Amino acid sequence: MMKQEYKERLQAVADAVTSRIDTLLAPSGAPYDELKQAMAYSVNAGGKRIRAALAAECARMFGAAEDVCIEIACAVEMVHTYSLIHDDLPCMDDDDLRRGKPSCHKVFGEATALLAGDALLTLAFSVIASMPQTVSADPANCLRASQILSSFAGIDGMVGGQVMDLQNENAVVPAETLKQTNALKTSALLSAACQMGAAVAGASEEMLACLFDYGYHLGLAFQVIDDILDVISTEEELGKPIGSDDQNHKTTFVSLLSLEGAKKLAEEHTNQAAQALKKLPDPAFLTELTQDLLNRRA
Ligand code: IPE
Ligand code: IPE
Ligand code: MG
Ligand code: MG
Ligand code: MG
Repeated sequence: MMKQEYKERLQAVADAVTSRIDTLLAPSGAPYDELKQAMAYSVNAGGKRIRAALAAECARMFGAAEDVCIEIACAVEMVHTYSLIHDDLPCMDDDDLRRGKPSCHKVFGEATALLAGDALLTLAFSVIASMPQTVSADPANCLRASQILSSFAGIDGMVGGQVMDLQNENAVVPAETLKQTNALKTSALLSAACQMGAAVAGASEEMLACLFDYGYHLGLAFQVIDDILDVISTEEELGKPIGSDDQNHKTTFVSLLSLEGAKKLAEEHTNQAAQALKKLPDPAFLTELTQDLLNRRA
């Protein structure tokens, strides 16, 4: 696949997700409409939509219809955005800028930001559970997708990783612990995105296992690059504060290995991710995305 086609497909998924989420979060005159406003503010603030694209393209690869691809993409992007809203709260990373705009709690206050995260998480599962009605998806496949999302986003997934990340503050942690933290806080949701997409399209467990491996390595590369950008990028380019990890006294692979060592590690995981793609029927888009994420500047 040419870079141009990859970029167009990424943009098309991002636009379709934004428009579907606008519909899902349209104000209804309820006394709690501000909550929907806070949810929409963060989820449609202009993220890269990587998890949405992974879910949509994996669904497409295994034959799902376009509306099914977008619906499952919206679900994972809502969970991802909830994780970022909470990650930015003063009790966690205490960051005031996200996706180039003031963080949710800066605009709507801490309580509403907390609740907007809660409601995005809940809505994601409602979207998946409703897919047999909204987009005529197979109920058993939807059940499998929600099982994947719940296990990878929860205790033994993203949330568990965020707990380890906080435990790691103010301590120099060994590389193995840091790798486990990153696998949970970041790889888990990327793996889930791929597997949920494939699952709603009825892909085999063998294919889901390949996508697990892919997401595992993609996520490790992704978090190392995130930590590198926290050091070398600018706030304008990144759309979030730089120096956040240093300020929170976090051990990262940059602090453990230096910038060059970290870049090399990201390259290694990128290669392993690319390797995992070889067993898939049509990996062209994912192959392009994998490389693109290694070289990203934001
Ligand atoms: C940021 O994710 C959180 C990490 C897991 C490092 P992204 O870099 O994908 O954030 P958005 O969605 O583009 O804002
Ligand atoms: C994010 O890690 C992990 C999440 C699950 C949200 P970071 O705390 O490094 O993400 P950024 O740098 O704030 O986006
Ligand atoms: Mg964090
Ligand atoms: Mg953070
Ligand atoms: Mg970071």
